[in-house]
Amino acid sequence: MRGRRIRRRDIGPLADIVRLVSLDEDVRAELSALEALHRLRTPRTIDGITGPRTTIDGVEVVNLASNDYLSLAGDRRIARAAAGAVEADGVGAGASRLITGNHRRHVELERVLADWMQCGGVRLFNSGYAANVGVLTTLLAAGDVVFSDELNHASIIDGCRLSRAEIVVFRHRDLDELGAALGVHRGRRRVVVSESLFSMDGDLDDVRGQSELCKRHDAALMLDEAHAIGVMGPEGRGLAASVGVTPDLLIGTFGKALGTFGAFAATSDAIAKLLWNRARSFVFSTALPPIMSGATLAALEIVRGHEGDQRRRNLAANARHLRSLQPRAGGASESPIAPILVGDDRKVMHLSDQLFARGVFVQGIRPPTVPEGTSRLRLSLSAGHATVDIENTSRFLDDAMRQSE
Ligand SMILES: Cc1ncc(COP(=O)(O)O)c(C=O)c1O
Repeated sequence: MRGRRIRRRDIGPLADIVRLVSLDEDVRAELSALEALHRLRTPRTIDGITGPRTTIDGVEVVNLASNDYLSLAGDRRIARAAAGAVEADGVGAGASRLITGNHRRHVELERVLADWMQCGGVRLFNSGYAANVGVLTTLLAAGDVVFSDELNHASIIDGCRLSRAEIVVFRHRDLDELGAALGVHRGRRRVVVSESLFSMDGDLDDVRGQSELCKRHDAALMLDEAHAIGVMGPEGRGLAASVGVTPDLLIGTFGKALGTFGAFAATSDAIAKLLWNRARSFVFSTALPPIMSGATLAALEIVRGHEGDQRRRNLAANARHLRSLQPRAGGASESPIAPILVGDDRKVMHLSDQLFARGVFVQGIRPPTVPEGTSRLRLSLSAGHATVDIENTSRFLDDAMRQSE
């Protein structure tokens, strides 16, 4: 009987009551429901290079929606490094790192990252999503406890769920609640996991306070620095480095400030070795193309040097300038992520469309990316934005807000 298709005649009289719905019909109904809720997502199309100004749906607009914080995604030097790597080594890795995908460029990138992060071991992942899921499921299992900030990214949430550890969600950045939870929830391994610069709110974790709590309660700290790597700290090493904290695990991504693609976990030699053996999103996935590591090595040279410092200063100045013009923008004063809370899903997409019509792309963010009732415009700044573009954006935003009241 296993796998046998159910036919109308098998159901007999029930067939008149239960309409057999095909998968496609059912999916179309689900899409209609999303549309009715103003939650149907249809991305715009990019042509050419992504940068502070980008051609989107055939029009050149000011791009305040990408995570290209240092304006490196379209950098010609990184593109040339990638072109050189592709000429020399081709495109595909051919297999996972553990088979024939362990290209010398990946080995070299892990060495350079360990030096940058001043840690015992680094493991590359194909994306930040794969890193969070791979790390959490490697280190945690039933009988362990993971303490997770309520606004953590979906990849952290999914990693926690897949690990089968007990999940204790604490209020956003609330160290009192975290401390109380650490005092109560016991387990074999205990890990606190948080973002450092929060992706949708642009605010900062109290990394030092959290690290002290972890030490006091014998828990490990895992910090996702996806949005802070390249942007903050000495040589762009992130928020933890800027406050002198070394988390047990630090997750960084290349697809944001570094302008390339892929991700890494910076940790101890032992944990990096265990990831090599156990992280399923690493073991059972084709390695990054070697060209990505070639491109990321070129990006790191820029990010770690004087030019990186200058780009970080420009970015911070742009963030401060926007906030001086738009007091309604949230996030830390120098954070490149400046959310403007709108609340209503339809209104946020309408505001985004109005701005687009005036030549500015700002993404409207709706649930499930953010909690219900907190839809927002997420303005993300980059080092390369011109002052005039920031000022025009602020003016257009005021006009659009006034019209929608
Ligand atoms: C906090 C955080 N972690 C992880 C990721 C995933 O990174 P990637 O885009 O490299 O998969 C994101 C990306 O949106 C993020 O915001």
